[in-house]
Amino acid sequence: MINIDWDTNFEVGHERIDSEHRVFLNLIRTISTEVEANSNKERILRLLAELVKYAEFHFLSEENEMLRVDYPGYDEHRHEHEKLLTKFTDMMAQFRSGALPLDSIVEFVFLWFALHTTQVDKRLGEYIQQNDKL
Ligand SMILES: [Fe+2]
Repeated sequence: MINIDWDTNFEVGHERIDSEHRVFLNLIRTISTEVEANSNKERILRLLAELVKYAEFHFLSEENEMLRVDYPGYDEHRHEHEKLLTKFTDMMAQFRSGALPLDSIVEFVFLWFALHTTQVDKRLGEYIQQNDKL
């Protein structure tokens, strides 16, 4: 199982986004721990549902920040969020039908988080730092 720890590379330099990312990563870690401990399927499904809801909330939060500062990469960034939610919902359905093991979902979400924060969200953080007039 991969090591799910906070890394300073995940920081995008925006207080609220960074703090939401920490909550998001903590949730992934909790799920990973429960998967390793072989917790019951219902409990893990509820944690995955919590992760989806938190992702939805967090994406809205980021997108509203983008709108506030008139971010030129809004459409592209929002599309990345939508793709993740679609893929994640699809993976959960595959897990329910027994076609996909849980650890592959956890690994996918963590790798997505690591890649998305260090590239896509970091560009947003830099833009806000340079352009925020408030
Ligand atoms: Fe994002």
